[in-house]
Amino acid sequence: MRTVETVADLRYVVAKWRTAGERIALVPTMGNLHEGHLDLVRKARGLADRVIVSIFVNPLQFGENEDFAAYPRSEVDDSEKLIGVSTDLLFMPSVAEVYPRPQAEQTRVEVPGLSDLFCGASRAGHFVGVATVVCKLFNMAQPDVAVFGEKDYQQLLVIRQMVQDLCFPIEIHGLPTVREVDGLARSSRNGYLTDEERSLAPAIYRQLKATVGRIQQGRRDFALLEEQALSNLESEGFLPDYYAIRRARDLGEPGPEDSDLVILAAAYLGKARLIDNIRLSLD
Ligand code: PAJ
Repeated sequence: MRTVETVADLRYVVAKWRTAGERIALVPTMGNLHEGHLDLVRKARGLADRVIVSIFVNPLQFGENEDFAAYPRSEVDDSEKLIGVSTDLLFMPSVAEVYPRPQAEQTRVEVPGLSDLFCGASRAGHFVGVATVVCKLFNMAQPDVAVFGEKDYQQLLVIRQMVQDLCFPIEIHGLPTVREVDGLARSSRNGYLTDEERSLAPAIYRQLKATVGRIQQGRRDFALLEEQALSNLESEGFLPDYYAIRRARDLGEPGPEDSDLVILAAAYLGKARLIDNIRLSLD
């Protein structure tokens, strides 16, 4: 595996692959890699001749009071893991390489509507930061295909919308969430949990599955189900942010004709902000 830190070096390698007619996949990450990330890389391997993984903790998607400075960084470990899943190229740019000009003057990409809901409502500017950096990474690496996790379901929809609106000739693949044995979604932020919080954390996924069960039994009073879920999470020790049963396609309020749903949850447990979701089909 080769590691490059500049756009010029990345482009040099990519140009050679392109000349050879090879198909290129990109897996964007912020590092501190776990099985969820590695699953995306394995999937990318099956979709292309060459796999690029980017590791870049993107300041533009963190709010002022968020954990940009504290975000876990583990480049040596990450590198070893990426070699283990046959990555061809690791792109690890500095902040100055990605944002050579002051952040406030950076051209931004906004996907309106979708970006204002849920995680976007609680984290102002978050999805503009995500869309902007993913757009830049797409332009830098010019992949044929890019792979993302459904764990960040709203992010996946934002990226799909951006790709469609800006006519990127890139196939987007979304992969199911990789979980710990007790159901907790793998996340770089799980490391913030104390032992006690870690043992409570799987309650989010248990609650999502319980809501799915109630809907499958015929309940359609979604607002009440959401309220009950929020109060259950609170009594389990979480500080819930949102819990919402939505249309999977665009996160709109589901009507009687909608059969493809997603339940989205976000809650604080101590310092960690955990998010999770589950899809369900009413057919
Ligand atoms: P990061 O949180 O590092 O996640 C990188 C990719 O891994 C995302 O597509 C995310 O959805 C996926 N992922 C994370 N946990 C997962 C899990 N348990 N199972 C499956 N996939 C999982 O998401 C970001 O970084 C950034 O916002 C980024 C897209 C890189 C832009 O900066």
